[in-house]
Amino acid sequence: MDNNIHSTLVLGLETSCDETSAAVVRDGRTILSNVISSQVPVHQKFGGVVPEIASRKHIEQVVPVIDQALREAQVTLDEISAIGVTYGPGLVGALLVGVAAAKALAFAKRLPLVGVHHLEGHIFANLLTHPDLEPPFLALVVSGGHTSLVKVASYNEFLLIGQTRDDAAGEAFDKIARVMGLPYPGGPHIDRLAAEGDSAAIHFPRALTGHGSYEFSFSGLKSAVLNYLNSARQKGEAIVHADVAASFQAAIVDVLVEKTLQAAQEYDLKKVVLAGGVAANSSLRSHLANALAIQNIQFYYPQTVLCTDNAAMVACRAHYQFLAGKISSLSLNARPTMRLGQSFNEKNNNLY
Ligand code: KG4
Ligand code: ZN
Repeated sequence: MDNNIHSTLVLGLETSCDETSAAVVRDGRTILSNVISSQVPVHQKFGGVVPEIASRKHIEQVVPVIDQALREAQVTLDEISAIGVTYGPGLVGALLVGVAAAKALAFAKRLPLVGVHHLEGHIFANLLTHPDLEPPFLALVVSGGHTSLVKVASYNEFLLIGQTRDDAAGEAFDKIARVMGLPYPGGPHIDRLAAEGDSAAIHFPRALTGHGSYEFSFSGLKSAVLNYLNSARQKGEAIVHADVAASFQAAIVDVLVEKTLQAAQEYDLKKVVLAGGVAANSSLRSHLANALAIQNIQFYYPQTVLCTDNAAMVACRAHYQFLAGKISSLSLNARPTMRLGQSFNEKNNNLY
């Protein structure tokens, strides 16, 4: 990076799903504060995120969370260089709360506004945990809503190599956890339960492997686990939940590891980063670490608090867009669906 560039202080905002978060990050790499107000307990009784409730909770939380982030960072709005905000993809009503707050602050304080793509934020969480990490690298983004392999060619160039045709990896974890009677979000519970089980106990399908394709599909796996559970219940057979969790998790991890390794080799990338909520999964981390080490490929993942939704990753991503002069206009709008890399090139929302 250019050492002559003035120091930046970016205020980041994240409200795309069920966390209201604000953070202050210096020079894209140093977290001064990262306040996360989680709505998980509110949505837990419904077994998933209720969009309307999420929007209302964001409205209640967004100003206190911003105040707290500034206070903890010991900075005032007058010292902030730019405001970064997630404007998609995500729940439209939830996104709108963060976008409206960011636009109001940018307008009132005459600050540059930077619209951030949520998944690019997840990928950049790695830069906060690993200060020396620089592109190019391959990113495996595995969250509640997405499963994608992305070549990050430079700080502002993203090439989507492949993604899921149906369910996201995190979604599969959450749905299977739900039918097993585990609380929402189910990923961490399956992770813990699987540690006590035998991953070879039941063979579940590994879709689209050995195809040379970088597409994923997890809906067949989900059906196979549901069929297994229903048929065992009907026959009155005992179900070893830990074995089901371990076997299901192994099916997901095997596919993710195989395709990531294949893509790193084909695209000749010597660094691989893991991103998104499922990056917290212990089995995925250890299996990827082993497979990549054999090929001498460096492996990175964010610290656990930065794997799930947070505003520090948004501030980090916004810093690099800001440095490249890619500033959004005050007509920035929420985009519930949006391609990776689009935040950087979008004509309608940005000033270039
Ligand atoms: O990135 P994220 O916070 O939200 C989205 O942008 O979707 O990811 C949340 C997802 C949930 O599906 C949750 O179950 C999953 O990440 N997750 C995990 C683990 N921790 C969180 N999945 C598997 N193992 C974990 N340890
Ligand atoms: Zn996310």
